[in-house]
Formats: sequence, structure tokens, C-alpha cells
Amino acid sequence: MPADATDLLASLEYMLARGRDPVTTFYRKLFAMDPTIAALFAGVDMDVQRRMFLEAFRHIIMNLGERSSVEPMLKRLGARHARYGARPEHYGPVGECLLETLREAAGDRWTVQLGLEWRTAIEHIAELMIGGADEDARVKSGAI
Ligand code: HEM
Repeated sequence: MPADATDLLASLEYMLARGRDPVTTFYRKLFAMDPTIAALFAGVDMDVQRRMFLEAFRHIIMNLGERSSVEPMLKRLGARHARYGARPEHYGPVGECLLETLREAAGDRWTVQLGLEWRTAIEHIAELMIGGADEDARVKSGAI
């Protein structure tokens, strides 16, 4: 993971400033891709959800270099996700969908290098979230 994520943050701010609402696109793509994932969001207020996702995602990207604060936050987020019904095998498709949305939102500014940086960051986020869910489950089962 890069010590700071200046390129990623700059590209995220650029996408948001382009005003194409990448978060709405992301959930639309995700729900079309996998109805079982869409079902986990039944009853969720998607206006609130989109805001929460964007706020959390921006915070994570801004603080990727701050491992001591962002890692525990991602582990807690992952533990909560297990309660929402998210399983480790969901993270691959969700990550690909996110990456595809980011690529489209970046338009001409997308480069191979930027794609690799985003992929690495998304994989790192998923790894920590899955790890957090796993630790939480082991604590609750009394294994730790
Ligand atoms: C890039 C990784 C992800 C990030 C940054 C993320 C972020 C968030 C955030 C910030 C929330 C709001 C609730 C909270 O803070 O606990 C949320 C809710 C939710 N996420 Fe994720 N998420 C990610 C991956 C996933 C995956 C892989 C799934 C599984 C399909 C998933 C399913 C859900 C569901 C179902 C909710 C709604 C919970 C409810 O209100 O009932 N997310 N996500």
C-alpha cells in the first residue's frame, strides 16, 4: 500500500467533480450484476446508503497511509458487514464493480498505472474488512 494515496484521492475528487454520480452508477451496476447482493440491500434507504458509502470511501482513501487509524476502522466496518450478510466471496465482484465504475468515471484520465493503484487499494480494503469479520466471528465463538 502506498504511504499516501495522493493519486487516488485526486482521481476520486476529479470523478466527483465531473458530476456523473459514480456512487449511484456503482450500486446500479452491482444490483444488475448480482440479484443476491441486491437482496441484501432490500429495505435500505439508498439515498442514505450512497452518502454513507461515499463518506466512508473518501475517508478511507484520504487516510490510507494512516495505518494505525484506518486499519481498525476497516476491521470494524468488515465485522459490521458480516452482520449485513456480506460474505468473503462477495468482495471480489463488489471490488470489480467498483473498479469498473471508477474507470468509467475517470474517463480520459484513466491510466494503466492508476488502475493498478486503485486495484491494490480496493484489494487491501477488502482484505482488512474480511479479516475484521473473521476476527470478530472468532472472538464471538470464544476461539480468541
Ligand atoms: C469496498 C468495500 C466496501 C465499503 C467501503 C463499504 C461501505 C459501506 C458503508 C459505509 C455502509 C454503511 C453502514 C456502515 O457503516 O456500517 C455499508 C452498508 C452496506 N454494505 Fe457495504 N461496503 C463495502 C463492501 C460491501 C460488500 C462486499 C457487501 C456485500 C455484498 C456490502 C454490503 C452492504 C450492505 C448490505 C449494507 C447495508 C446495511 C444496512 O443498512 O442494512 N458492502 N457499506
